Amino acid sequence: MKKFTNARIYRQHDHSSEILVEKGVIKQIGRSLPKAEEEIDLGGRLVVPPYVDPHLHLDYVYTAGSEGATNSSGTLFEGIARWHEVKKTQTLDDARERARKGIGEEVSKGVQFIRTHIDVDDPKLTGLQAMLELREQLKDKVTIQIVAFPQEGMYAYKGGDEMIEEALKMGADCVGGIPHFEWAREFGEKSIHRTVELADKHGKLIDVHCDETDDPMSRFVELLNALVMIEGIGTRSTASHTCSFDSADDAYAYRMMGLFQKSGLNFIANPTENAYLQGRQDTYPKRRGLTRVKEMWENGINVCFGQDSINDPWYPVGNGNMMNILDHGIHLAHTMSFGELDRCLDLVTHNGAKTLNVEDQYGIEAGKPANFLVLDAHTPFEAVRQRADVLASIRNGDYLFKRHEPSYEIELDLFRNTTAAFAERQRAHG
Ligand code: FE2
Repeated sequence: MKKFTNARIYRQHDHSSEILVEKGVIKQIGRSLPKAEEEIDLGGRLVVPPYVDPHLHLDYVYTAGSEGATNSSGTLFEGIARWHEVKKTQTLDDARERARKGIGEEVSKGVQFIRTHIDVDDPKLTGLQAMLELREQLKDKVTIQIVAFPQEGMYAYKGGDEMIEEALKMGADCVGGIPHFEWAREFGEKSIHRTVELADKHGKLIDVHCDETDDPMSRFVELLNALVMIEGIGTRSTASHTCSFDSADDAYAYRMMGLFQKSGLNFIANPTENAYLQGRQDTYPKRRGLTRVKEMWENGINVCFGQDSINDPWYPVGNGNMMNILDHGIHLAHTMSFGELDRCLDLVTHNGAKTLNVEDQYGIEAGKPANFLVLDAHTPFEAVRQRADVLASIRNGDYLFKRHEPSYEIELDLFRNTTAAFAERQRAHG
């Protein structure tokens, strides 16, 4: 048995400060718990469940510098065209190595749950093969869900929907889609119907790139929401991005939010990515590219934040740091009241876990796997204000990594050698 003591546990309001772990599972949380063979003092630091990155493209990582990858306009649609060129030369070894490095970057910053979209427009399904292998190989260290994602559209070429079904049969966890990129609105709607049919047929989750455009008339989320509500699979379904919902008329938006509450549909916003990609055809003012996070959060609609890109043709500087994503997201969403700051870590932890449908194995509770992070802060507010580093990531009761808090070779003393010189100057000026 192992006992973590002197912890400030996120969302525990009963002053529990100890976590007892047996065989990788949390046995008990409380105070003055029984002694254990190994006791680890956490020094009053904040303990939170692992970061969840619910939206990432692991087959694209580190391709931003590849030949043909330069995205001159900075738009989403040019990114898709650039990727079309880059993927022609992708090999299994290359895909595996880049994805492995991308997962490593995320896990090194406290992520233990990733949902990754993998492009299944490639007839060889190279990225998918690499990802299926890594999902299995790394499952004790990081939980990975794979979305069968038709990056270039389900109906933009013949057999697109068949490639998705093939990917589902091979083991992908979720059905993806990109209705706003189909060549006509009817095809976009048809792709939503097909997404729901395939999820139903194969018992899979849904995660659609939905309305990732500034066009307020892009409203595919309406159809997605209605279909999953009818099928009773709203909580197993997700609309990613929904940038156009930011530009929608308020009367429409509030009617839809009532329907989202009923269906239980999950939402993922990607604050850094869409702040960079959206508003590119605007002069001024430029739109922020973020869906209505604040209103969703306030109205009990499950919403969370994702990284989306790590150094790819869409966004050059992602690095898997969910604290950085949270930082941008709460600024863009205007969610920084003291109450919101106390619970905004939910946007990169619990809300992501709910989106992934992994709540049965997620959270700091007795009976669940002992997966958690130790942050270099003592309260949720200070964690966010200081953009706290992750000092340790614990998975099934063992350290994935543990670091020292930053230390100085020469500590700052703001007033060192200033007092005498200051007094001298004061004297000189009489
Ligand atoms: Fe995406």
